[in-house]
Amino acid sequence: MKVLVVGGGGREHALCWKLAQSPRVKKLYCAPGNAGIALTRGAACGAVECVDITQENLDGLRRFSRRERIDLTVVGPEQPLCAGLVDQWEEEGLPVFGPTKRGAEMEGSKAFTKMLLRKNGIPTADFQIFTDPEKATGYCLEHGGPLVVKADGLAAGKGVIMAKTGAEAAAAARSCLQEGRFGSAGAKVVIEETLRGEEASILAFTDGRTLAVLPSAQDHKRLGDGDSGPNTGGMGAYSPAPVISEQMEGRVIREILVPTLHALRREDRPFKGVLYAGLMITEHGPKVLEYNVRFGDPECQCVLPRLKSDLVDVFEKVMSEKLEEDGVDVLPDPAVCVVMASGGYPEAYAKGKVISGFNAEGQVDVEGVTVFHAGTAANADGKVVTSGGRVLGITATAASLPEAVKRAYAGVERLTFEGAQYRKDIAARALKR
Ligand code: AMP
Ligand code: GLY
Repeated sequence: MKVLVVGGGGREHALCWKLAQSPRVKKLYCAPGNAGIALTRGAACGAVECVDITQENLDGLRRFSRRERIDLTVVGPEQPLCAGLVDQWEEEGLPVFGPTKRGAEMEGSKAFTKMLLRKNGIPTADFQIFTDPEKATGYCLEHGGPLVVKADGLAAGKGVIMAKTGAEAAAAARSCLQEGRFGSAGAKVVIEETLRGEEASILAFTDGRTLAVLPSAQDHKRLGDGDSGPNTGGMGAYSPAPVISEQMEGRVIREILVPTLHALRREDRPFKGVLYAGLMITEHGPKVLEYNVRFGDPECQCVLPRLKSDLVDVFEKVMSEKLEEDGVDVLPDPAVCVVMASGGYPEAYAKGKVISGFNAEGQVDVEGVTVFHAGTAANADGKVVTSGGRVLGITATAASLPEAVKRAYAGVERLTFEGAQYRKDIAARALKR
């Protein structure tokens, strides 16, 4: 079959890498892809072909899918899902993996999700929703800090402000509601209590009724070691997250995921795809921080290498509503992903820095290591250069977590570009346990 992956980051490289291993995939396209994706090959599909269509260009993507008779479109990022890509594909009878626009609102509107959780008694931080700056600032000053202020809409992971004091929270709310920070995404804000505990992500395939839960993962959102510095899209991840014991996973499924699916069905928002629960494991049990409607990035890079099942088989079961609870086979070895980012990220950064250390496949020769390219491009001389904030995700699997960490950093050591920054403590919390 012919498969199209939409997107061009580390998550999409991991998706292409895994799909290329399927004997069922005879041709694999990625739009727009990146330099590392273009160097990915599969035994049955040959080299992945990157096509120059952006993820925003739904008309272009649809024309391409029709013309090339694509048998399966897989959507990596949230924007095309929230823009209704799946609805358009379904209208035309084009097979596609992912939730419809109504399902994707779980990520597209934090206010919608918080209301859904509250209405259904699903554990999450206490919250209020505001559109009026006076009321919002009044609430913040009266309540006092710490508070978390969140832009309602999509803000590329930057729309969450952790405020220590009521005054800070009030300023954050005002910046969204009055000064247009985050544009229309910030025209409504959720203001919520600050939860304490350890964070973890649980991703599950679902066909709207049945859940097949993937191994847990832990992201590292802050830029610096020891969780210091600003929030980023994610500077690294590992799987499994020890904070998600078997018993805790059971609670997450019973108290959070299953009730969420029921709630979505009652609202006539059937959800097919990957449901990503961002969780805080508090002393009172697991609570939802956020829902995403797609694979996490970089969580995907350390979860997919642990998946034994053929990804096409799983996608088809989701799409035809035939998913089984034990529908995914998982490998026991843990995985670690260390992100190398451009100097300056998550603020402004330079592009076009030559990356050295790759072999001909855009990889490094370290046992157990796969380099997932996130922001890379080929320059006029055919050299791989940086083209984004997060540039590479060096991912390793091994029989033990310490060994996987060692391998991932051995991979990092081989690669250099001007200004490169990365965290030295990925998985440190799990190693400490
Ligand atoms: P979100 O995009 O909603 O997951 O928020 C991004 C990050 O902000 C999360 O991964 C947490 O680290 C932090 N965060 C969000 N909401 C809360 C909360 N209520 N309490 C503590 N930390 C939070
Ligand atoms: N790693 C967090 C996200 O994908 O949203």
